[in-house]
Amino acid sequence: MILVTGATGTIGSETVRLLGPVRTLVRTPTGRPGEVVGDFDRPDTLDAALRGVDTLLLIGPAVADQQIAVLDRALAHGVRHVVRVTNHQAFADSPVARRREHARIDAHLKASGMAYTLLAPNFFMQNLLALAPEVAETGGFSGSVGDGRIGMIDARDVAAAAAVLATAPAEHAGRTYLLTGPELVTFADVAREWASVTGRAVEYRRISVEEHRAALVENGVPEAGSNAQVFELLAQGDGAWLSDDFAAITGRAPRGLRAFLTDYVGGKCRTPRLP
Ligand SMILES: NC(=O)c1ccc[n+]([C@@H]2O[C@H](COP(=O)([O-])OP(=O)(O)OC[C@H]3O[C@@H](n4cnc5c(N)ncnc54)[C@H](OP(=O)(O)O)[C@@H]3O)[C@@H](O)[C@H]2O)c1
Repeated sequence: MILVTGATGTIGSETVRLLGPVRTLVRTPTGRPGEVVGDFDRPDTLDAALRGVDTLLLIGPAVADQQIAVLDRALAHGVRHVVRVTNHQAFADSPVARRREHARIDAHLKASGMAYTLLAPNFFMQNLLALAPEVAETGGFSGSVGDGRIGMIDARDVAAAAAVLATAPAEHAGRTYLLTGPELVTFADVAREWASVTGRAVEYRRISVEEHRAALVENGVPEAGSNAQVFELLAQGDGAWLSDDFAAITGRAPRGLRAFLTDYVGGKCRTPRLP
């Protein structure tokens, strides 16, 4: 029995679609078969979801107290293998709080005695969807990543890798897989490809980290400070790496930026449709 958490989120919803009938932990029921209602913040609500589970696919916010509580309940229920989505820069001394949180969870999992497999993805292409309103309104987007090159991955491919691992975890025990797309891209490349796919000009307006932080705060973006920190790191090359691990896991090439933009602009992906 597989249990998927974070099943309503970006990676989780696609993973569940790929896995077919599977048990999911949800805070709010959607009516999909296999749902068990529970909340990371209330570990006693996790028991019904974890009963009889061999493999836990742990996806959720980078909040160590929450995920550590889930891991402790999973161990108590005899879960044998945990496949977890972490971050590609999850280090205990990271300047970014959520990356330190991921590092704490990874360390707890590794010390738990349960078998584990970690998926450590680079920047998600789906983060670009947040730029859509600004592109629609102004014909471009602002960003503080300069000309930093990033091995962006389509979150649907993170889900594809997660689905393979959850189905046959034993052969991947103890492994950490680094996940990227097929190419290094800059935000200037994003603007150019976006324009090419839509046939309309899209401008990339370079702004400073301070301006970016202020804009994120003004727009009420959660974790605005951490996001600005990450953009600053990306400008310095934090995401400028590629890996073949996705192809090794799934046997196919990962989606590139153009395929991602084409699917979202063309409406193949439900929401949001890019302008
Ligand atoms: N974005 C990136 O570039 C990037 C890069 C590398 C790694 N990551 C990591 O990828 C992971 C998640 O990815 P995602 O984009 O799929 O996340 P997401 O879309 O934000 O989804 C989060 C999921 O967690 C659930 N959740 C939140 N709080 C919960 C709680 N208290 N109890 C139970 N479930 C809860 C949400 O359920 P509700 O529907 O109830 O809210 C939702 O299903 C994160 O750990 C993130 O750090 C992201």
